[in-house]
Amino acid sequence: MKTYKIAVIPGDGIGVEVVNSSIKVLKALEKNKDYKLEFHEFDWSSEYYFKNGIMMPKDGIEQLKSFDAIFLGAVGHPDIQDHITLNGLLLPIRRAFDQFACVRPSILYPGVNTPIKDLKPFDIDLVVVRENTEGEYANVGGFQYQNFPDEVAVQSAVFTRKGCERVIRFAFELTIERNKKMHLTSITKSNAQGYSMVLWDRTFEEVKKDYPQVTTDSLLIDAACMDFIRKPQNFDVVVASNLFGDILTDIGAIITGSMGLASSGNIDPTKKSPSMFEPTHGSAPDIAGKGIANPMAQILTAGIMMKHLGEHESAEIIENSVKNVLDLGESISPDLGGNSTTSEVTRSIISNL
Ligand code: NAD
Ligand code: IPM
Ligand code: MN
Repeated sequence: MKTYKIAVIPGDGIGVEVVNSSIKVLKALEKNKDYKLEFHEFDWSSEYYFKNGIMMPKDGIEQLKSFDAIFLGAVGHPDIQDHITLNGLLLPIRRAFDQFACVRPSILYPGVNTPIKDLKPFDIDLVVVRENTEGEYANVGGFQYQNFPDEVAVQSAVFTRKGCERVIRFAFELTIERNKKMHLTSITKSNAQGYSMVLWDRTFEEVKKDYPQVTTDSLLIDAACMDFIRKPQNFDVVVASNLFGDILTDIGAIITGSMGLASSGNIDPTKKSPSMFEPTHGSAPDIAGKGIANPMAQILTAGIMMKHLGEHESAEIIENSVKNVLDLGESISPDLGGNSTTSEVTRSIISNL
């Protein structure tokens, strides 16, 4: 029987709660399938940091290498500066495994309220492909005269032709695979960022010649934020730099109901390294420990993981089950206006599989 080795990093806050739910769903689903999931849990988190002064062991990346996928909740703790937490675990993993395409769907499911008026279910059905290893998140910079009145901080964005080209090409391929509006929107700020984003724009113009069946447009990030709210139904696939993709996907989450529905995959399309599956949301310290986090984003993320592993039927079953539970409206967590707990929502999803 096929066995997939999954590295599980629950992390912090609600990450632990929603990963727990998702593993229950995956285990229930596996019962009638011809594959086995072998979970190996890692306690790398802020608690680990409090004990050891680091987020993960020095050979952490090495330990993850042999897995078929990494399933992560979220990291982030109110008592640790976020750049320590995230630069100690999440961002190094994305870079080390060259997970250059971060894929984040935003779909308006039946039964879910959107703050945008006059939209019907599935009127919003878009995917943001976020460049995930360089751009504004390149770990390049430093402080000069630290803690003196004349202190200077430099943080450089790094855009390479190779980095732009591969993520743009991935987005074109995804647009064709989806076969919906066959439209790709590229997002930059090349009116102000005259080098890096101009390289991106030029690369987009070159790559698009290889995909004549896809219509395209280019938007500036500020206008794109406006259009995500003004006319989100016009988008199909959107490709953006690391930071712009980060910002757009929180908007994409909230116009389709909640951060609690926003799934995501950090993909190495070459499959040379394990990809990492984590929802768009964070550790949500404001609701952590209350048992009311919406597990759907993490469960849908598990669906993206199963698709990446080649288990398309399981991926579909997971998405359909979440869709049914939303549509039935009986087990809805508080972020979506209901009063069901994380466990109640999880149980409903399992019984709808
Ligand atoms: P957040 O996504 O954790 O929370 C934003 C808001 O959305 C909060 O009101 C929260 O209650 C709500 N929310 C998020 N997920 C939810 C869910 N599943 N169900 C119900 N409500 C949900 O963002 P934040 O508050 O800016 O960040 C909290 C911490 O998480 C920070 O330390 C941040 O750096 C970190 N973070 C980590 C990741 C990650 O590990 N992938 C992603 C984003 C933020
Ligand atoms: C996300 C998060 C991370 C990011 C943070 C926590 C570093 O916001 O995955 O969207 O910006 O990539
Ligand atoms: Mn984000």
